[in-house]
Amino acid sequence: MQPPAAGSLRILHLSDTHLTGDGALHQGSVDTTAALDAVLAHVDGVPGVGLVVVSGDVSEDGSPESYRTARERIGAWAERHGAALVLVPGNHDLREGFRQVLANGHVLGEGGAPLAHTMEYTPPSVPVSGQSVVAGFRVVTVDTSVPGAGYGALSETALDRLRTALTGEPVPHGTVVVLHHPPVPSPTLLHEALRLQDPDDLAELLDGSDVRVVLGGHQHHHAVGSLAGVPVLVAPGVANDTDVVGPYDEESAHVAHGALIVDVGPDGSVWSTPVRVPDPDRDVLAFALDAGTVARIAEQAGPAAR
Ligand SMILES: [Fe+2]
Repeated sequence: MQPPAAGSLRILHLSDTHLTGDGALHQGSVDTTAALDAVLAHVDGVPGVGLVVVSGDVSEDGSPESYRTARERIGAWAERHGAALVLVPGNHDLREGFRQVLANGHVLGEGGAPLAHTMEYTPPSVPVSGQSVVAGFRVVTVDTSVPGAGYGALSETALDRLRTALTGEPVPHGTVVVLHHPPVPSPTLLHEALRLQDPDDLAELLDGSDVRVVLGGHQHHHAVGSLAGVPVLVAPGVANDTDVVGPYDEESAHVAHGALIVDVGPDGSVWSTPVRVPDPDRDVLAFALDAGTVARIAEQAGPAAR
């Protein structure tokens, strides 16, 4: 894959890993640890990743063991690639287990160096919030989960912390917001019922701010929208892929796994490339060109030949 442009922050955007502490299959069909390993292996050759984010539903059961699996596997990938690591809870996460292993979710800083946290007890009623700076970009996590519910909401605390982060010390290249429930419509009735309530509260904070992109998940399918003029990217699920073209009032998903590679430029430009892990039983290679052939075609068909 093309390396990121100079000054850009390249983000590996994972979401909805739904890891289980006891190895139970997600929805009775998917080994999510194996799915995570497959996604991480598939993107291993992507150059220049400076930040890995997981936009919620890190765990299916909220167990500390499931968060340790996330910390170990995604953390090892990030450290090896010299990337920061940031995670935020989703509706399936439990704040207690999340905090026990991942603290405020800002686990690794710039270059993949572990961030220090004071591990003091915070009651689960308090949303998990954090911010860090990576390559001149501020990364702010916003916990949209509602304990015991599937829909998302922005509590006063979460909104206050985002407001404070955005009005804090300026950063050179702007802010990346990471949350679980994306502030865009959902393709299925079930997800629409579980959508983010009152996205206008978020729109107010984004309007005129230095936020370049909002990264979310929850829908288990790639989507792009915008809020207050800010791009909103929804990552495909690591666990499975929602069928978005079936009857609106039904819900189903396929065994498929993906992620986004998101480049945010120093000028605020955003380039996002969805990645899907191929299924060796189904995805037969259509063609493959070696580097010499590609160079020849690029030369003959590019602007230089005109
Ligand atoms: Fe999910």
